[in-house]
Amino acid sequence: MVHAPPRPPAGSPPVRINLYSDTQTRPTPAMKEAMMRAEVGDEQHGDDPTVHALCDRMAALMGKEAAMFLPSGTMCNVIAILTHCRKGDEVLAHETSHILHSEGGTHAALTGVQIMPLRGPRGMFTAEEVRAGIRPRTRYAPPQRLLEVEQTANIGGGAVWPLAQLHAVVEVAREQGWATHMDGARLMNACVATGIAPAEMVAGFDSVWLDFTKGLGAPLGAVLCGTRAFIGEAWRWKQRLGGSMRQAGICAAACLYALDHHVERLAEDHANARALARGLAQIEGVAVEEPETNLVFFDIGATGVSVAELQRRLLAQGIAVSALGGRVRACTHLDVTAAMIPEAVAAIRDALAA
Ligand SMILES: Cc1ncc(COP(=O)(O)O)c(C=O)c1O
Repeated sequence: MVHAPPRPPAGSPPVRINLYSDTQTRPTPAMKEAMMRAEVGDEQHGDDPTVHALCDRMAALMGKEAAMFLPSGTMCNVIAILTHCRKGDEVLAHETSHILHSEGGTHAALTGVQIMPLRGPRGMFTAEEVRAGIRPRTRYAPPQRLLEVEQTANIGGGAVWPLAQLHAVVEVAREQGWATHMDGARLMNACVATGIAPAEMVAGFDSVWLDFTKGLGAPLGAVLCGTRAFIGEAWRWKQRLGGSMRQAGICAAACLYALDHHVERLAEDHANARALARGLAQIEGVAVEEPETNLVFFDIGATGVSVAELQRRLLAQGIAVSALGGRVRACTHLDVTAAMIPEAVAAIRDALAA
């Protein structure tokens, strides 16, 4: 039996403050307007002008030669790994990475790679940690082919990899002849938080993708970028996996709208996350991690209330939070206003005291 994510129990009030995930944003009326006006064609056939416009824009933004529109970030990771690696190859990634924990075992089921989990605080590892993972090139060891990082690191608390640390791990990969891939589900959060331009942030990575369904607020879509040769090869996998679409310009238009209107405002989400963390830090028994972007993780072990119980009590008040790795995660995003933060803090205080 496979369980679906938890839903509010029947009879709960509608969710008013949704801190569950930045994936739960609703397209704004202006975004829907842009989608309605989109010029479309047959994407699979290479004829959708809005998809072309999005891919050209993304390739330029990331400083890469080419880009490909896909329905989801998971498909970007799967296709990138299929394109870089062969069955039996090894990918080095953080032990908390999305590819290891949240893609349904796809690498055993589909790509056939194995993943070496690297350690390090806040979802990041150092060049020394990568070096310690280098295997001898013998017939016994799996061939190591790819180094993967997540910017920002989700289970790492929305932490931003410092540029120097990214460069250092990429350098080890280069020395070893491995390819490098960045899961940029929340890359724009990292760019806005640091003021570093996307192309600079992803320089040195052979492939990178950005999700439009997180803080950027689009209903679906992610764009994978790389060299022309890489994207050409990746198209074969897109086709094989059923990721080639038809009038996808409707969705690409939402992504273009998001690039124009929803990037700079991520700074508001980061400010709301900091305000939330400050409020939570005042609650007895709550240990909160200082957020760098829009994800606030906190531990409530010392309160004697379980994470599931807190979720249940909050849902009864129309407030949703998620549980990740034994901690509570609260995400700020497009549908969370600054005015909701004190209300959420008060509700969490009351729920823990109840
Ligand atoms: C770090 C990270 N990578 C990949 C994904 C997968 O993205 P999608 O939900 O678009 O498949 C997510 C989604 O939450 C994520 O947080």
